[in-house]
Amino acid sequence: TRVAIVFGGRSPEHGISCVSAGSVLAALDPDEFEVVPVGITRQGQWVLASGDPSRLAIADRKLPEITAGSGAELVLRADPTAGGLMVLDPAEGPRAIADVDVVFPVLHGAYGEDGTIQGMLEMADIPYVGANVFASAAAMDKEFTKKLCAVEGIPVGPYAVLRNGMTLSEEDKERLGLPVFVKPSRAGSSFGITKVDDWSQLDAAVATAREIDTKVLVEGAIVGREIECGVLEGEAGGAPEASVLAEVRVVSGHDWYDFEAKYIDDSCEYDIPATLPDQVTRRVQEYATRAFTALDCSGLARVDFFVTPELDVYLNEINTMPGFTPTSMFPRMWAASGLEYPKLVNRLIRTALH
Ligand code: DAL
Ligand code: MG
Repeated sequence: TRVAIVFGGRSPEHGISCVSAGSVLAALDPDEFEVVPVGITRQGQWVLASGDPSRLAIADRKLPEITAGSGAELVLRADPTAGGLMVLDPAEGPRAIADVDVVFPVLHGAYGEDGTIQGMLEMADIPYVGANVFASAAAMDKEFTKKLCAVEGIPVGPYAVLRNGMTLSEEDKERLGLPVFVKPSRAGSSFGITKVDDWSQLDAAVATAREIDTKVLVEGAIVGREIECGVLEGEAGGAPEASVLAEVRVVSGHDWYDFEAKYIDDSCEYDIPATLPDQVTRRVQEYATRAFTALDCSGLARVDFFVTPELDVYLNEINTMPGFTPTSMFPRMWAASGLEYPKLVNRLIRTALH
């Protein structure tokens, strides 16, 4: 099976995507998969990248980066009759390198996890791992995730949407209370998010979020534990399956689970499986698979929740291409559920080929 692993990309999560891809590349069995490593630069250029996982790791607190000189230039032709992925070779002209059987877009955030590359792959008639165009776009957007899940009876916390140019009304301030989290509606890895403890900080927080997305969400903070659940598409058309749960606890130096806490500083503790009463675990798993279905997801998703001291459960968000780094929750939750990393990657690719 020829599989293109696509990573990097135009979103602020470029480096995280490279680290995720490094782990996926290391896990692929060379007897079973012929890999075409495809990097996308921050500017959007496609290159035939190195597939050496050791070059795709965090070193000295620095994230890896795909640059234009990293390899031969590639183009993806959204034309099923023209061979899909092509190498642009200035001497010989374009030649098809790969009738790849399947693409694994190990891309996080905009232009990767949001339906855009998925649309391109649909046009080119190339199977791919993960959510389709609609589910990717809906899950990338925290406003629509909440709306679609809420109508399916999944509790979501209080929030307000600030479309381009809008400011938060006095009524909304009263309704949400302090603190609030101000977030770009479409982003990931906590980029652009600010915790606001005093309304005087709100304008700056909205401006920070707007650097990433013109649409901003202001969410009332839910005091509770961060609980995550992995979901996989069922095999042979079966119902989606939920993993054991994970709890993330920020233990030092960070007020909340921000970017540095997630990836750079060694400041989180993880409980896998999370210690929760059975009935709460089952409720979270049921909400996670219901959310997966509500958004029409396929392949995989990590669904994130808050569980309050009263054991109320609130959905936070859905990630259709969750992190696959060595510290990432999604593969670790599945390993704890009996599906080791290489088997997980194998299953995702097999599911995509159906
Ligand atoms: N957006 C990051 C990669 C995650 O959800 O894991
Ligand atoms: Mg996310």
